[in-house]
Amino acid sequence: MHILGIESTCDETSCAIVVDGKKILSNVINSQIDIQAPYGGVVPELASRHHIEVISKVVHDALEQADCTLDDIDVIAVAKGPGLIGALLVGIHYAQGLSWSKNIPLIGVNHIEAHLYSALMSIEDSEVQFPSLGVVLSGGHTSLVRIDDYGVYTLLGQTQDDAIGEAFDKVAKMLGQPYPGGPHIERLAKEGNPNSYAFRCGQMKNAPLDFSFSGIKTSVLYKLFGNDLSKTLKDISDGEIQNAAASFQHAAFSDIVQKIDRALTTFDCQALYFGGGVTQNRYLRDLVAGKFSLPCHFPPKELCLDNAAMIAGLGYYAYKANPIDEMLSITAKTRFPFVGNTSPTA
Ligand code: KG4
Ligand code: ZN
Repeated sequence: MHILGIESTCDETSCAIVVDGKKILSNVINSQIDIQAPYGGVVPELASRHHIEVISKVVHDALEQADCTLDDIDVIAVAKGPGLIGALLVGIHYAQGLSWSKNIPLIGVNHIEAHLYSALMSIEDSEVQFPSLGVVLSGGHTSLVRIDDYGVYTLLGQTQDDAIGEAFDKVAKMLGQPYPGGPHIERLAKEGNPNSYAFRCGQMKNAPLDFSFSGIKTSVLYKLFGNDLSKTLKDISDGEIQNAAASFQHAAFSDIVQKIDRALTTFDCQALYFGGGVTQNRYLRDLVAGKFSLPCHFPPKELCLDNAAMIAGLGYYAYKANPIDEMLSITAKTRFPFVGNTSPTA
């Protein structure tokens, strides 16, 4: 089954053609980083406008690279949320147009569920192990999810405030680094001492698997700029910045690793599957490898950040489980409970 996937939840416009959920024929990604970077973050209106400008070409290029035409496409899968509402609408309306004009069934896919799927995508079905723990670490989400099958999830923990990627971006901005800040924190941290500052992440008494990263961000601010915030970046040495980056990165990832460890005590977990842009981080991968003896699967680099291959891939399983055409019923949502059951037996 050839699935054409479309992703436009934030600042990447992407289209991919994937066969039977796993074989990627093309995965074209148009990133807006250069457009958004001068603003230090994503400006939603700019994101929507850029999606409109490039989406036709991105879809055209994806079909061409896959050596396909729309006549070869069996199903269209589009990210329906969570994401920026205007950005989502561009992808959804474009997908509806394609679906209507070529009479191809359209299915909506949850973006976070697709991040969870991205590590499963490069593994043969016979080697995928359930129940497993899914860990989404992205710019917008931080979630621990028990996965019992494709589409069968239980949310175990999530962030109560900032997402992990958002915290990296905000701390990087504080340290005078460009957007997106995650890779810059990782680079600075390589030169710093992770034990220089004892930063701590928030703990929720009644929700021990939930996360909180807003406090640690403020601790970095006061530690570097003084309690009265009287210092400016000019007063802070490169060494202090590197040490702050290393200590923040170490504290944030240690908290995640510790909560994964705790989540593993709640069921007979067979494997760990990671997803989301933050999972590109090498320090995180090394911490995880040093801590857990279970199989730990990370997506390949090109599937870590937002991309349509993961949307098309998951769309295959979602359509197989529930072959309905959502062309007229699909709606964009900024927030989405992605926990649920879309298995054939549901
Ligand atoms: O998954 P993604 O594209 O975002 C959402 O869907 O929300 O991930 C983007 C996030 C950004 O916050 C970015 O700073 C972070 O991933 N990121 C990293 C690294 N590379 C990207 N964070 C830490 N270390 C990295 N190497
Ligand atoms: Zn994402």
